Amino acid sequence: EKVILAYSGGLDTTAIIPWLKENYDYDVVCVCINVGQGNELDGLEERAKLSGATKLYVENVVDEFVDDYVIPCVQANAVYENKYLLGTSMARPVIAKKLVEIARLESAVAICHGATGKGNDQVRFELGIKALAPDLKIIAPWRCNDTWKMQSREDEIQYCKEHGIDLPFSADNSYSRDRNLWHISHEGLELEDPAIEPNYDHLLVLSVSPQEAPNEGEYVTMTFENGIPISLNGEKMKASTIIEKLNELGGKHGIGIIDIVENRVVGMKSRGVYETPGGTILMEAHTQLEELILDRATLTVKKEMANKFADIVYEGKWFTPLREAVQAFIESTQQYVTGEVKFKLYKGNIIKAGTTSPYSLYSESLASFTTGELYDHHDAEGFINLFGLSLKVRAMKMAELSKN
Ligand code: ARG
Ligand code: SIN
Repeated sequence: EKVILAYSGGLDTTAIIPWLKENYDYDVVCVCINVGQGNELDGLEERAKLSGATKLYVENVVDEFVDDYVIPCVQANAVYENKYLLGTSMARPVIAKKLVEIARLESAVAICHGATGKGNDQVRFELGIKALAPDLKIIAPWRCNDTWKMQSREDEIQYCKEHGIDLPFSADNSYSRDRNLWHISHEGLELEDPAIEPNYDHLLVLSVSPQEAPNEGEYVTMTFENGIPISLNGEKMKASTIIEKLNELGGKHGIGIIDIVENRVVGMKSRGVYETPGGTILMEAHTQLEELILDRATLTVKKEMANKFADIVYEGKWFTPLREAVQAFIESTQQYVTGEVKFKLYKGNIIKAGTTSPYSLYSESLASFTTGELYDHHDAEGFINLFGLSLKVRAMKMAELSKN
């Protein structure tokens, strides 16, 4: 019988290979899903095979990740607890989906992942797997207190050695990180104390801190069609390439670094630093465009839907009818979200430098202070009388009551 292991190539998931063989006697099929984690993929094949895996799949799903998971979040302007652009959360469902696909291909009976028992990722992987393949067994070694005895990197290296696996893993503790095309997250070490300032020189991977950024600002323009980014600085390119290039630009100018204490699904608060250089620019550009294009009432409801969508994604409820329904609402608001946004990037700041759209509802003549055809100042008086009627009625009642 076979088990599919969600494999990153890191020490944690490498130690799981001998552990699975020892405790379950399964053939271990490793699956590494490439969602744009970059150099983390080097030397993967060698490590998996040396560690006793029967097979390794490396699946490049970057474009599927961007088109089907990232873009809907951009269109929604989905942000969790006012700050977090959901980089890790949005990648988990596509990973779960691919794990299930390969499990079917290999007729595997189980899927194993290396998320801990205290985090969100276990929830996201497992809700995804349950929704797509309710019959598959799920194995989470970090929750197996009886058999998973390793508590540190030293323990894991020792365990691997005992099982004939001698790989050059460093015993140094680093941050707990998760990287993909959209972002990198950092948790652990000094970050676990919210009273402590992050050691940014140590920490940052995709960006520099604003004070290290160039003294000259840099312009960038993005074009959107139906809420989808289609070009950068006048050049047409696919969305994943736009994000890749925006990451370089944003990283260079110290854009999109956040430090948050967030509420995990499992109940605890946790402190993390996230770098989302390109995503922050793209999301801001999309928001600017919607400012011109969406009417007030739609925008109001869309803001509520954005929060709803963020919660759904954070909680790992991607493969649900509610996510589909909310996404359908969001998509229908994107019909006219077409136009160009120009920004100047400067030391961590995104400065607006002009937004245009053929569907802009902004009317200069209507907004300007001189009287025009469409707007008669006198109409405002009647409008305010009716708009304020209920509060005037209540104030009169209060005055009457206070007399008695
Ligand atoms: N706290 C973030 C989230 O829940 C990031 C999780 C990072 N995951 C990881 N395996 N390092 O989305
Ligand atoms: C983990 O616990 O595996 C990483 C953090 C999280 O999932 O929230």
